[in-house]
Amino acid sequence: MKALVLCGGKGTRLRPLTYTIPKQLVPVANQPILHYVMGQIHSTGIKEVGVIIAPETGEQIKEALSANPWGFAFTFILQEEPKGLAHAVKVAQDFLNDEPFLMYLGDNLIGESIVPFVEEFKQSDVETMILLKEVEDPKMFGVAAVDETGRVRFLVEKPKEPPSNLALVGIYLFSPAIHKAISEIEPSWRGELEITDAIQRLLEKGKSVKSYILKRWWLDTGKKDDLLEANRVVLDELIKEDLQGEIDEESKVVGRVSLAKGAQVKESTIRGPVVIGEGAMVKNSFIGPYTSVGNGCIIENAALEHSVILDDAKIAEIERLEDSVIGRNAVVSKERRNSQALRLMVGDDAEVLL
Ligand code: DAU
Repeated sequence: MKALVLCGGKGTRLRPLTYTIPKQLVPVANQPILHYVMGQIHSTGIKEVGVIIAPETGEQIKEALSANPWGFAFTFILQEEPKGLAHAVKVAQDFLNDEPFLMYLGDNLIGESIVPFVEEFKQSDVETMILLKEVEDPKMFGVAAVDETGRVRFLVEKPKEPPSNLALVGIYLFSPAIHKAISEIEPSWRGELEITDAIQRLLEKGKSVKSYILKRWWLDTGKKDDLLEANRVVLDELIKEDLQGEIDEESKVVGRVSLAKGAQVKESTIRGPVVIGEGAMVKNSFIGPYTSVGNGCIIENAALEHSVILDDAKIAEIERLEDSVIGRNAVVSKERRNSQALRLMVGDDAEVLL
């Protein structure tokens, strides 16, 4: 079995971060989401991985995968325009050949292993298996109507009136029958060839589509609050104490804290779960639970909590920063002068709440 990972698309929902980073590379606990995706695929024993890339962000995706600790044979497949998930499968047809495959959207993060899902597919004779999760607002997703046995009755993409609260998680298993179904569908109202419509087409042709309900969390890291939540959950579940950086005698580090090599903590308190990246400097500051500080960041005379700080950002003289996402190289600092005026240089689509 092969895997197809989708890293094309535009990524408008996490602007401004996604102006410079493809959404699959947005870090959660200092690791790009795509690395968690690859870890999941690796655990299934799959070796050949096709990666759909876009012209704008393809080089960044390749670079992020270049260390390849999973030992995959990668094939990068260029999708000239984001014309939909089913279009991406079409573009990858030569790579996929006539084999069954796992399709994984490169920006989806789930809290359990996909191995049982993949094993069940291998042992069954169904054409497609989809992963579902109960959500509060199904309108933003593909939605499935399912009978008591888990057999899928019908599917609909981003419905105004959802038939259930079961959303399609971006992880699918397909037999080669999906290619014919894709050739028989038309673009949707949003101009995309929808994989949901192709699966619906299989159902109309009497093919069997089975569902598997995810028991634990699923984070579709589309927006700022989703990203903070993903960061919180991953720090809570995956971070172990690992102190490779330097901590001076005046500092206190409590709870599960991962301090990468070359990072320095001086006259500060760190209360885990927290991750601090390579070469970061934390001085006379407090870093509270559920915070990720990227490589090369400078945190000085500041207190932060429940936040994601991307590489090389600087935060100085800030009494308290909470629930925040700060982009790469950004500076958040209070000037020490007797003026109430704010001096800002804020990028496109940024949000400043004072
Ligand atoms: O996240 C789950 C949802 O993903 C499902 O519930 C929906 O049924 C499914 O259509 C999809 O909806 P989105 O609107 O959230 O998909 P998005 O455009 O965000 O794209 C998902 C991933 O696929 C993302 O990593 C970018 C990539 N992609 C997207 C398109 C449209 C491509 O590689 N090529 C594309 O043409």
